[in-house]
Amino acid sequence: MTTKALTALALVGGLTAHAAAAQDQIEVGLLLPYSGVYAALGNDIQAGFELGLETYGGEVDQTFNLHIEDTEVKPPVGLAKARKLALQDQVDVMVGVVSSAVLGAVSDIVAQMEVPLIVANAGNDEATGAGCSPYITRLSFANSQVNRPMGEWLAGQGVKTVYTLAPDYAAGRQQIEAFTQGFTEAGGEIVGSQYTPFQQTTDFGPYLTEAKSSGADAVYVFYAGGEAISFVKQYDSFGLKAEMPLYGAGFLTSPLYVNAEGPAAEGVIAALHYVPTIENPENERFVEAFRSKTERDPSEYAVHGYDAARALIEAVKSGATERSEIAAALSQVSFDGPRGALSIDPATNNIVQPIYVYETVAAEGGEGLTQKVLAQLDAEQMPPNGCEMKPIN
Ligand code: PHB
Repeated sequence: MTTKALTALALVGGLTAHAAAAQDQIEVGLLLPYSGVYAALGNDIQAGFELGLETYGGEVDQTFNLHIEDTEVKPPVGLAKARKLALQDQVDVMVGVVSSAVLGAVSDIVAQMEVPLIVANAGNDEATGAGCSPYITRLSFANSQVNRPMGEWLAGQGVKTVYTLAPDYAAGRQQIEAFTQGFTEAGGEIVGSQYTPFQQTTDFGPYLTEAKSSGADAVYVFYAGGEAISFVKQYDSFGLKAEMPLYGAGFLTSPLYVNAEGPAAEGVIAALHYVPTIENPENERFVEAFRSKTERDPSEYAVHGYDAARALIEAVKSGATERSEIAAALSQVSFDGPRGALSIDPATNNIVQPIYVYETVAAEGGEGLTQKVLAQLDAEQMPPNGCEMKPIN
């Protein structure tokens, strides 16, 4: 059943979204970017979320009614939209947030308003660290979770010196700091580092010149969405790829836009919690269903949406329909999903999951690019980092 059909079902018999009893219909606020550098990510999370509702929605009696809001990747807009969803639309749960900066802006208000938020992308470590709340549950990843083990892995490959680059905002800084920690603790050295103005950098030339003159063995970056496409293409056209191999957090060459990067992405090695080539039965089913719905491979963003829907349905299945009940049930969720076994750590409400190192390679016998898994790193459970989880009243 499609989401539209699920929603329509709830409207039969003159029931409006508002008049429907909370236990019959769950009001869901989707708080995502549909404009700005992360617009494609927002759309993919929504596509995954809708597929999750279609796949698992039949397991509960309730229907799910979506209220969709565009954060524009701007913290003040995200904050205003979160308030609207909670106060005006009276949603039972919010799903979304792509940017760590937007998550930083909405975390406090979500906790104060006591509306559960299922984080379906933003990796801001604070949200499941010192700023944690029983109302914030993350089904995506934490910035450190992906990057620290990659630092360790890269040092283990014999790479001794690295130059780092990332956009200048919370996610860029946290991802590079975590990579640096893992890399230097395993014996590597960072020989230079720069942060580029977020959402404003179109010419990476000056930064690439600096990276080249550093003489590092390799370059490690975090870029995502529109910035990732520009960066990967310019890195190649600058002639750097042959000289200094490019590594990164795996959003750099996400299946969502790797074909827009084209051959420039070939050979890039990166770490991520999901690629569509992972082999397990759940993932096979998911890839097939997503392909038949969208005619393309699912990305990590689609999985965040899909697993967020499944987690919400698990919570509802356990009897939770009120805001506080949904928040409490979400911290107990665990299942085998497309990315392997996952669970929520109730001490932080962050996801526990394996991390994969993958290389972007030309698809065998076909067109386009695919992801070759090089290594599966152990499931990463984040330390509390100052999180003191409060009980729900
Ligand atoms: C973030 O801001 O936390 C963020 C954005 C896009 C990504 C990953 C992390 O692909």
